[in-house]
This record gives sequence, C-alpha cells and structure tokens, in this order.
Amino acid sequence: MPAQHPCIHSYAEYEDAYRRSVENPEQFWAEVAEPFTWRRKWDSVLKADLVGGHNEWYSGAKLNITENCLDRHLATRGNKLALIWEPNDPKTRQIRYTYRELHQQVCQFANVLLNNGVEKGDRVCLYMPMIPQLAIAVLACARIGAVHSVIFAGFSATAIADRVNDAQATVVLTSDGLNRGPKQIPVKRVVDEALESCPSVRRVIVVEHLGWPVHMQEGRDVWYHEEAQEASKSCPAEEMDAEDTLFILYTSGSTGKPKGVVHTTAGYMVWADYTFRNVFQVQENDVYWCTADIGWVTGHSYLLYGPLLSGASTLMFEGVPTYPDAGRFWEVIDKHGVNVFYTAPTAIRSLMATPLDNVLSYSLDSLRVLGTVGEPINEEAWHWYHTHVGKERCPIVDTWWQTETGGIMISGLAGISPLKPAHAGQPLPGVQPVLLTQEGQEIEGNGQEGYLAIKFPWPGIIRTTYGDHERARQTYFGPYPGYYFTGDGARRDEDGLYRIIGRVDDVINVSGHRFGTAEIENAINQNPHVVESAVVGYPHDVKGQGIYAFVICREPVGKTDAGQVEASIIETIVAEIGKIAKPDKIQLVSGLPKTRSGKIMRRILRKVAEGETSNLGDITTLLDPGVVEEIIQGKK
Ligand code: PRX
Repeated sequence: MPAQHPCIHSYAEYEDAYRRSVENPEQFWAEVAEPFTWRRKWDSVLKADLVGGHNEWYSGAKLNITENCLDRHLATRGNKLALIWEPNDPKTRQIRYTYRELHQQVCQFANVLLNNGVEKGDRVCLYMPMIPQLAIAVLACARIGAVHSVIFAGFSATAIADRVNDAQATVVLTSDGLNRGPKQIPVKRVVDEALESCPSVRRVIVVEHLGWPVHMQEGRDVWYHEEAQEASKSCPAEEMDAEDTLFILYTSGSTGKPKGVVHTTAGYMVWADYTFRNVFQVQENDVYWCTADIGWVTGHSYLLYGPLLSGASTLMFEGVPTYPDAGRFWEVIDKHGVNVFYTAPTAIRSLMATPLDNVLSYSLDSLRVLGTVGEPINEEAWHWYHTHVGKERCPIVDTWWQTETGGIMISGLAGISPLKPAHAGQPLPGVQPVLLTQEGQEIEGNGQEGYLAIKFPWPGIIRTTYGDHERARQTYFGPYPGYYFTGDGARRDEDGLYRIIGRVDDVINVSGHRFGTAEIENAINQNPHVVESAVVGYPHDVKGQGIYAFVICREPVGKTDAGQVEASIIETIVAEIGKIAKPDKIQLVSGLPKTRSGKIMRRILRKVAEGETSNLGDITTLLDPGVVEEIIQGKK
C-alpha cells in the first residue's frame, strides 16, 4: 500500500505540523512527498538560496505530474467524476468526465501534440475559452513534457504576441470563439492578428467550440477534431526531472513588461496538493468549485492541479456570475451540489450590489466551505458572504498567495483555524512569514505592520523568470537578501493573525488582476495624442482598486474634444493589453507633479485620485507646484 497523504484534522495537528516544518523542513517535506508516484526518488529534498534565488526541491527525482493527477487514481477512482463542466448558457449540455475518461482525453490530446511535432521542453501557448479542452490541453502538455503558458483569453493580440515571443513558443492552441455571458468573441481572429509578429510559431491547433467559420492558414493551422481522429487514447507519460519547467505564467510587476513566472514539476506538485487538501478540507464525495479562469494562477493550482492531484471532483464554469442573471453562481451550486466554493472578493461585491433575492431564492444546502482569493476582502463583503451564502455555518478561508508562490501561503484551514473577517490568518506549514521595516529589519511581536517577506523556501516558490533570471533575483530576492519579498504590506494582529493590506509597490490589483502602473502607462503612451502619463490605483467599491490615469496630450484639448481623446486612449489600452486594463478615470492634465530631478510624485496623484486633497504633504519642492492645484480642480 502506498503511504497516505498526511492531512491536518485539528488545530493541535496544525500546530504540530507547523512546528515540524520549521524545525526540520527537509524531513517534513520528504514525508509529505512520499505518497506521490515517483519514477525515481530525490537525492536531496531542498537546495535553498534566498539570495541568488536558485531554489531547488526534490532534485534528482523523476516523475510526471499527470501520472499523479490521473493514472494513480484509476484503480480506486476510475469511475469517479474528475471534471464537471458547466456551460455559459445554462440551457446547453454539461460535460462530465470520470478520471478514466479524463485520462483518455488527455492522452489523446497529448498524441495530437506529439503528432504535430511538439517535443519535451517546447513552449506551447494556450489562448482558449474555459472549456474542457483547455484543462485537457494543459494536462496534455504536462504529459509529454512540453511547457504550457496559458494566456488569459481577455488579453489583446499585442499582449499575446509579447508573451508568445518572450517564451519563443512554437505551437499555439486556441478555439474558433468563446462565450462570455451574452457575448461571443472571435478568439481565433485575435490569435491570427497576434501571430503576424510571432515568427517562432509553426503550428496552431484550433478547437471547435462555437462552430464559427474561421480562417485557417495553410501549412500552419489544423483543427483539433480532425487531428484527434488519428490519435490514440493512450500515451505514456514523459519522464521529467523534478526541476524541469512545468509551466510559465505571465504576471505584471512594478517595472517593464509582464514577466514569465516559472514553476517546475515536483515542488509545485507537492505544494499544490498539500495546500489544496489542508486548506479546503475536501472530502471524498465532495464537488469542489473554483470560479477562477485557468488563465490565472488560481485556475492552475486550484481548479486543475490541486484538485486532480488530490483525486477530487472539480467543477469548471465557462460563464460569468451575472449571466443569464445575477443568481447564476448560486444556481450552479444547487444544480451540482457544490460543497466547497472558492471565488474572488470582487465577484462577491458585484453580486452584493444586486437584489438579495438573487441569492435567497437558492437553498445552497450543499455548501460546507467557502473561500476567497486574489485581493483583500472588506468586512462588509465577508459578512454578506458568510451570512447569505454560507448561512453562518460555513467557514471562510481567506487565502493569501501569489502567482510566484505557486500555492496558498497564509490562510485558515477550513473548520480548523480561528475565523476572523478580512484576515488571511496563519501561515501554512512550511511558510515562515516575517514583517520587515523599509530598511529590512525584522519586526518582532504582534500588533505590528510592515513589509511581508518569507524567510525560508517552500516547495512552490518561483524558480525564475523565463529567460532572465536576473530579473527574478532583483525583484524577489534583491530588495532584502535572504528573504523572498512579496511586494505586499501586512499587519500581524494581537493574536498573530495576518491581514494583508495591499501592494507596497507600483502594482494595482483590479478585480484580483495585477497590473503594473508602468505597463498601463506604456500602453497609454502609444496613443498619438499622448506625451506622457501617470497611472495610480484608487479604492473602488466593486473592483477593489480602480485605474486612474493622468494624461498629458501633445496639443491642448478643449472640453468638446476631451471625450474623443479619452475614447481613443481607451482604444489604445484595449489594443495593447485588453479590456481588463481599461482605466476607470482619465484626466487630461497640462503637467504632472514632478520632483526637480524629474521623478513623478505618485503619492500626490494617489491622494488626488482618492479624493484626499486636504493633506498632500510638502509640495514646495516640486518643479511646478502650480500643477497640483490644476489637477485637484480637474479631478474626476
Ligand atoms: O496583493 C496580493 C493580492 O494579490 C497579489 C497576487 O496577485 P496574483 O499573483 O495575480 O495572484 C492572485 C491569486 C493568488 C498579492 O500580492 N492577494 C492575493 N490574495 C489575497 C491578496 N490580498 C489580500 N488577501 C488575499 N487573500
């Protein structure tokens, strides 16, 4: 009998696991890793390096993550549902795959990739709707050792091209179109436009979803369903090294273009599984639903890998929370008997703003555990979720983590840890958080606030940024050598529970999506009207943070033309990044508050955007203090 996966069942067990993970991390993580399917065990559990950022877990081990997600469950869970797919339109057909069927689907897709010349180590970009073939394709890449890079299907052609070129992808997987609520979007057309500037791509495999006619480029584009006819439903898994790259996922930082966060095979697998089981406390017959898109890390770790590694039944939803009406989430929960539900605060806030009947008309009896992720949850939203969705009987796990951490870092364990609204809570075993002063001194004791950093590696830690390790080193390990720097500020309350305050760098979190202010400014500056711009975040009732752009135009713009210029700026952002980065407010200004050395004083702009203009601090050192008054007068 293989060893059982250790799972925490009580607070005392949590304390014991935590203590062991700190006292003897290597032994702890060796025990956690033991029950997986390994082709060869590791030579060393951990090679730690929080200075250069070269961290390795389970070096020397050989495995394939899909054997752990699929094959090893076949004997005991072959007929258990692995993937339940709920379509955008509730009147159309759901799809359900057992572990056996999902295994076959993944093998078949893997064979299509192999037949199309994809080799171990090749980068494959996926720009697809939330349909089962996206989940299948991701696993198919992992099956044959190709590196998947999923690009959220709301990004623009330019954003796709940036990511495809950075990864030097040879193959792109896409579909004819996608459904988003009442809209249909011609996904393949966006890919075609992107690929005009992507010479590395030699093959595009198109999954038919809407049945739309699309342009197929001779010699480059093929239909998945035609390729699949020849492809067998069995495919041996490629043997991977523990530290072989599993995937790249692009995410925004405070400088430059989005960077490709790299996760490798064994450490990510152990981390995704361990955190999933312990945080959500999913039981064998549960239906588990994470509403995130696979285009984001939450979809990778907690829609796909975590649940499948643990042998759970995971629900995948194509649509949006408000279609056909704002009761859709709750309807899906009742329809499928969802027991564990994991979503984003922004979704909760947007549904809170609709009539309460939308939620009260569903029973939600099946729910046992609720979770949130992606941004701080305000107390009002927490209480609404707890009262009206959880009926005051379901614990809420507020899970703090990042694309770079691979999995949940600070969170309660459902039904085990103390619940405190708007607090992520305590670190998971293996996570050693600290609060630092700006100078890098550790802040001791409770009731304190500081920069959140982690002082010991965990299995899911970012390995590098694709093609540019120096960037990873500087971003995460450079600011405070010996620590992983998160970019977040946090408070440790009197009970030692962590509350995440928000980013302390130039990153804005809009509806749980990260954007660098520089990234949006670069996009705005592509507009021919624009000379310079400065972007800041400001508190937004539904999105958490909204995007406020201050823009200087080449020519003075009269009131009558301002609307047109603003619309043109928005168009540019949509073309450069995508609709998700549309600013909420654009203010045309004649100048920006700058220091004498030319640095933009964002602190002042942030205060203006927040409407807090009474206390701007000392502005006499500015190059042109007069500009501040003009900006205040013109505030949107
Ligand atoms: O600021 C934190 C916020 O989201 C950032 C990470 O964003 P991303 O890499 O896109 O991953 C989102 C999903 C894991 C963090 O630096 N964040 C994430 N979860 C929480 C959070 N802020 C507060 N509370 C959370 N539970």
